[in-house]
Amino acid sequence: MSSPNAKLNQWVQQMAELCQPEAVYWCDGSAAEYDEMCRRMVACGTFVKLNEAKKPHSFLCRSDPSDVARVEDRTFICAQTKEEAGPTNNWMAPDECKTLLQGKFNGAMRGRTMYVIPFSMGPIGSPIAHIGIELTDSPYVVANMHIMTRVGARVLEVLGPDGEFVPCLHSVGAPLAPGQKDVPWPCNTEKYITHFPDERLIMSYGSGYGGNALLGKKCFALRIASVMARDEGWLAEHMLILAITSPEGRKYHIAAAFPSACGKTNLAMLIPTLPGWQVRTIGDDIAWMKFGADGRLYAINPEAGFFGVAPGTSYDTNPMAMDSLQRNSIFTNVALTPDGDVWWEGMTDQPPAELIDWKYQPWTPDSGRLAAHPNARFTAPAAQCPVIDPAWEDPAGVPIDAILFGGRRASLVPLIHQSFNWRHGTFLGSIMSSEKTAAAAGKVGEVRRDPMAMLPFCGYNMGDYFQHWLNIGERSSAEKLPKIFYVNWFRKSPEGRFLWPGYGENSRVLAWVINRVAGKAEARETPIGYVPTPEAIDTSGLDIPADSMKSLLAVDPEEWRAELPLIKEHFEQFGERLPAALWEEYRALAQRLDGAAGAAG
Ligand code: GTP
Ligand code: SPV
Ligand code: MN
Repeated sequence: MSSPNAKLNQWVQQMAELCQPEAVYWCDGSAAEYDEMCRRMVACGTFVKLNEAKKPHSFLCRSDPSDVARVEDRTFICAQTKEEAGPTNNWMAPDECKTLLQGKFNGAMRGRTMYVIPFSMGPIGSPIAHIGIELTDSPYVVANMHIMTRVGARVLEVLGPDGEFVPCLHSVGAPLAPGQKDVPWPCNTEKYITHFPDERLIMSYGSGYGGNALLGKKCFALRIASVMARDEGWLAEHMLILAITSPEGRKYHIAAAFPSACGKTNLAMLIPTLPGWQVRTIGDDIAWMKFGADGRLYAINPEAGFFGVAPGTSYDTNPMAMDSLQRNSIFTNVALTPDGDVWWEGMTDQPPAELIDWKYQPWTPDSGRLAAHPNARFTAPAAQCPVIDPAWEDPAGVPIDAILFGGRRASLVPLIHQSFNWRHGTFLGSIMSSEKTAAAAGKVGEVRRDPMAMLPFCGYNMGDYFQHWLNIGERSSAEKLPKIFYVNWFRKSPEGRFLWPGYGENSRVLAWVINRVAGKAEARETPIGYVPTPEAIDTSGLDIPADSMKSLLAVDPEEWRAELPLIKEHFEQFGERLPAALWEEYRALAQRLDGAAGAAG
């Protein structure tokens, strides 16, 4: 088979000549095709079929223990110059990288099938959607792309003879010699996740896991799309999207950027504990936002599924995610129960008496190790979420009223504060910081700056990205732009206990946000922004000591003054590319803190 698109056919043929697969297969996106991928993977030990009575039509997959998360130190932005990629990205010269990868991909698919996956990010044919073509030698990628994106023949029809697509080449980098037996999770110890923003091309080598391999997600919908968005005047962001209806029946929309494994999936599906409020899910990881004719920002979720963090997900913390993953789902690096179901840390209060862990080893509660990998994930169709918003596939998107930034900070950052305006909100996003999680390889817990939760995902110089945010703020009027807030669910007591109960209780904070948008919630002005007065957050029915609430909403000018040199150092890395407006915001913050300290002293 081939497509009506000559450019596509030519690229597929060239890549097949380079990678030398045994066969080339064009995916049609059908249910039969999905089942055939699963059948093949069960046959070679990649998949274990779960108990049909427990998790119908679902599979467990265990990766190689060396291939369990995104590899940020192996991720490259191959812009023309290092300056274009900026100080926060790894850079390789495009020609050098291509020559190097030419060598790696040469014969990389020997003994395997090359799958051609036509996919759409966003509803097929929507004016906001974009098409990608992923070539991969991994049936695991094919099955996951079926859930995470819209795959198939209809995409090729929309592409037509001269439509545009983003070429995404992927190989696990493990060719098979004739007669060589395959392993359940082929991969290579050497990994390259590379992006060519000028050509809008992606090449990924050596890993089969998550964002390294499902190229529609971080590589396309964030790194390449952020470049497209810069050029075309829109935003491609690492944000969940939710709809929230107030007790008066008014519907609002919120987009929220938290770093990986910091609560997007949880917030997107939250069940409000505050009576009268209702939340509906539109997306849990990525938002593409464009201006409508009315001057408001409209967001779509370019994905079709959830690739969610399994550990910590339970009927207590996120019942809607649990309902979403009961069938037609793939579980990667979780534990297997004796009756053919899955388990992970935090799913139940009491762990099962025995399990097979994610490394295929027998496990009991006193094994003294984790049964599931901390970055174990479920892949589930978004349409299976019981609280998916009826408008989640609306090609026009939903109008955004508020943007939240947030991260994991045990101290310093209050539960919630509101920016003074768009420019100050951009400043808040630009100084975001968070403790590192297991979503990327490396040391967990270290505090790092993660501006707009885009540190690993911005496809160009982050200084220019900040300028782009400022430019977006110039494109419309203050009352039409979303209001910008900063949240922190993760503030801890001196003993290391979370001060805020989180999860469904976060609805109390969302209610304050919406009431601020509606112009009717109380706040006090502090040097860092507007913070709720203690009574402004509805804590009725919540057993939270008054002094916890006080700590949660505290803004300590001295602590913030100690943060200033760190912000300065962060900004200085961008040199001339750091917008002057952000330095102005920095100086204004320092002045307000001086004033507050003077008043206190
Ligand atoms: P990515 O998919 O990596 O982008 O992550 P995400 O931002 O969607 O994170 P997710 O919602 O999956 O949450 C990750 C972890 O944070 C889980 O272990 C949750 O249990 C925990 N978490 C989420 N929300 C809260 C909260 O409000 N409070 C606390 N204490 N933990 C939370
Ligand atoms: C993240 O790390 O932010 C994820 C998972 O959403 S991955 O798809 O692996 O990037
Ligand atoms: Mn993410």
